[in-house]
Amino acid sequence: MCGIIGYLGPKSPVNVLLEGLKKLEYRGYDSAGLAVVKGKEIYLCRVKGKIKDLEANLRANPIDGHYGLGHTRWATHGRPSEINAHPHRDCEGNIVVVHNGIIENYLSLKERLIKNGHVFKTETDTEVIAHLIEENFSGSLEEAVICAVQSMEGSFAFACLSPLDPEKIVGARSGPPLIVGIGEEEYFLASDVIPILDHTRRVVFMADQEIAILSRDGLKFFDFSGQPISKVSTELNWSPLMVEKRGFKHFMLKEIYEQPQVVRETLSEALSLDFGEVNLPELEAAKDRLKECRQAVIIACGTSYHAGLIGQIMLESLAALPTRVEYASEFRYRDILISPEDLIIAISQSGETADTLAAIRGLKGKSGPLLAICNVPGSSLVREAELTLLTQAGPEVGVAATKTFSAQIATLTLLALWLGRARGGLEKEKAIEIMLELQRIPHRMEQILNNKERVENLAYRFSSYSHFLYLGRWISYPVALEGALKLKEISYIHAEGYAGGEMKHGPIALIDEKMPTLAVIPKDRVFEKMLSNINEIKARDGIVIALTDNQAELENHVDYFLPIPSTHPLLSPFLTVLPLQLFAYTIAYRLGADVDQPRNLAKSVTVE
Ligand code: G6P
Repeated sequence: MCGIIGYLGPKSPVNVLLEGLKKLEYRGYDSAGLAVVKGKEIYLCRVKGKIKDLEANLRANPIDGHYGLGHTRWATHGRPSEINAHPHRDCEGNIVVVHNGIIENYLSLKERLIKNGHVFKTETDTEVIAHLIEENFSGSLEEAVICAVQSMEGSFAFACLSPLDPEKIVGARSGPPLIVGIGEEEYFLASDVIPILDHTRRVVFMADQEIAILSRDGLKFFDFSGQPISKVSTELNWSPLMVEKRGFKHFMLKEIYEQPQVVRETLSEALSLDFGEVNLPELEAAKDRLKECRQAVIIACGTSYHAGLIGQIMLESLAALPTRVEYASEFRYRDILISPEDLIIAISQSGETADTLAAIRGLKGKSGPLLAICNVPGSSLVREAELTLLTQAGPEVGVAATKTFSAQIATLTLLALWLGRARGGLEKEKAIEIMLELQRIPHRMEQILNNKERVENLAYRFSSYSHFLYLGRWISYPVALEGALKLKEISYIHAEGYAGGEMKHGPIALIDEKMPTLAVIPKDRVFEKMLSNINEIKARDGIVIALTDNQAELENHVDYFLPIPSTHPLLSPFLTVLPLQLFAYTIAYRLGADVDQPRNLAKSVTVE
């Protein structure tokens, strides 16, 4: 939901900002802009469209400066257009602002500012920030920002500069993420760490209600009441190579192929096979409380929610822990009874999803331990949770989540094994059996990815179809949901994920030769039940593609096969999801869709 970047240092700001925006583009891509300051002049360039359009415009009309701000937009207030693209300015054009989030009281602020003589040029909520700063400005940009934030409501992260208080960038955070990067005599301000990895790995994660001042004299932080605060920097272990495509056509494809390694890394330190134990040192201090929990409540959105549904089955089967899974966006508005014996597990790739954060904030003081499963160190979720299991996926750039899903289910498997052993319900032998098979999972994943021709051929064959049904039962039901989500997200084809047994209560009415079904049917406890569902589809002239490790028993029942290796039934999602990701990717690619940046979506949804 919009990406912000600021740069102050010896390099050409236009290049740094442009390259940074390319890496932030997954956060929004309907318009973009940047502003640089040279002496007393501000030079601005804004376009409707993507960063490549901004780049082309800058090539045709070059600008230069000493420091500056950039922005890539995902529209909330005001349609995507050049005029609504950030940066926005005050009346005199002396203050420029880039913003991520929503100023909820912008209409009343705008009315007041107009009464005071301010003239607005755009339909955005962001423009009020520039005018508010202008109204409070008397020589110090940070003082004006401290005054301005007092009257702003909503969720926002913004950065601003003004040649009237030169060589300075001021950023404020109340909601969406903002980080400061510290390089050699240079500073960065950005929505996340990805755009600054080429320059530095030393970062300061800003918390809510904090203001950062980047200037040639150094770095300072204040809270919203204007009190100076001291912050500690962190050295990241992510490398710039992790955010390169490395020969793949798209980030999504690269990230699909990284999954075996991601799972390998997640498991590497955690499995202690001799003892049938899982090492999760992050949880040790809270072991007694975790052991005694009455139920687990998993809260998540999107793909993370689907991982949560798999986690539910793992926690019930391996840890005998009653588990519910909730959409954060629904959960936050319900009157749910939560007790101090309830373990809350928030799953989020980004750690910044507004609904997930709001849902956990609503539980403060009511629930038991809050455990975050998250891929981004230093993110809001990680900072607010009592316990964290960081997933080892590395930065994910493709908007459609793939490797973070595998990392989440690997982490949930470890958690379920750990809890099962800690609570005493999981026998050592059973734990070892699963752990042994878990170790083989990365290799089995590689087998699937190395034989992708069959998936590709099927994807080509079916790329002209407009509707798909994805069916699964038990642990394959969330996989069916995830497969359908992937296809919808990146190819814009209608796809329904459904529980096999529910099909006869509705979707079966849709079945005909124009709506193929992808049936996720590994050999497990519901194999026969799924087979009956498949037969119901075949009896109605439906086309069935089966993902299975049991081709022999399905030979005369389905039209096409996507074979997967056999594994422990609880671990099949690691394998079944891969052909579905590749299927969606290949169709989207074939249709010429923008795979890494699908329309209307954003990777990190920091607004409600
Ligand atoms: C967006 C992304 C999805 C993601 C969801 C939840 O919709 O496009 O890929 O699954 O947000 O994000 P989170 O960061 O909380 O996992």
